[in-house]
Amino acid sequence: MTQNFIKNILQKVNIGCTLDKTEIISLLSNGGNELLAVANDVRKKYLGNEIYLRALVEFSNYCYRTCYYCGLRSGNKNIQRYRMTEDEIVLLSNKAYNLGFKTIVLQSGEDMHYSIDELCRIIERIKKNDVALTLSIGEKSFDEYKQLKSAGADRYLLRIETTNKDLYQKYHPNMSYENRLRCLEDLKSLGYEVGTGSLIGLEGQTIEMIADDILFFKRINADMIGLGVFIPHPQTPLGETEAGDFDLALRAVAVTRLLLPDINIPATTAMETVRKNGRVMALSSGANVVMLNIADEFYKKNYNIYPDKSGVNQSLEQMLLELETSIKPIGYKISDSKGFRLGNY
Ligand code: 5AD
Repeated sequence: MTQNFIKNILQKVNIGCTLDKTEIISLLSNGGNELLAVANDVRKKYLGNEIYLRALVEFSNYCYRTCYYCGLRSGNKNIQRYRMTEDEIVLLSNKAYNLGFKTIVLQSGEDMHYSIDELCRIIERIKKNDVALTLSIGEKSFDEYKQLKSAGADRYLLRIETTNKDLYQKYHPNMSYENRLRCLEDLKSLGYEVGTGSLIGLEGQTIEMIADDILFFKRINADMIGLGVFIPHPQTPLGETEAGDFDLALRAVAVTRLLLPDINIPATTAMETVRKNGRVMALSSGANVVMLNIADEFYKKNYNIYPDKSGVNQSLEQMLLELETSIKPIGYKISDSKGFRLGNY
């Protein structure tokens, strides 16, 4: 009975219909291998067999926020904080460009140390190379986003984390859900490619809330969606709660692909951390992007959002080789384009 119901929903997708909330909930709860396979087909139909690679530069692990799940929260004293200098960030980005990366992602905690002028200078220097530049540095004002865009930033990642307002307020003390939405709207209106996404498996989160998240992604027409599995970090208030369900996160990736067929969806590091081979599973279920951290071990080790992050002990060469070897059998190859959302450029 259930399987027939799932089949019917997937058939609707095949003839180009969108899905309503009840159908999304069914797929998130009971979608099996068939759901994952249909998502992979949709991905291939719209995006072919290429995987977009991004070089991730985690340039500062200072953060003044106190998000309940994140190891970078300011309350965590058990972490060696670091900040890269302007020259270090540019050098690392140049190294990535010389290795063939076509997108540089600058990510940090919310660190007020870097002025907007300094960030703009860094962006201008990196953009001397023919690369796309993504920022993932948190909430800023409209004018700040505007200056960063004028300096050359192309994309911005800011996860909503959860669209359930109560849950959002519970896990983000002194932050405002409305301001988060305002940031996403500002970024869109300024012409950024906008990435958002959720954490799957936060305590108190229901399947229905995840369905609402996916409908939200569709409503704002997000260009990228990153879905992470929650991994408890011992030095946080959620350290004793259970980790998220990998299979549910995988189904959420697949359903997101069904609703937003041409967007970019990373196979997140969190997915690989909780399940060996998790990245390839995500890439076979609708995801089409891989972000590789290109900094040295010291930085990777201390950008400790959650424990035992995948790839921390591997060299960049090892990570690249492993990725290439793992995607060959599933028929994918690494793209040499900048990987904007199809149709945007
Ligand atoms: N487990 C998984 N993902 C996490 N993030 C933060 N803390 C955790 C955790 N404990 C994710 C957030 C953030 C991204 C950079 O890392 O979703 O947006």
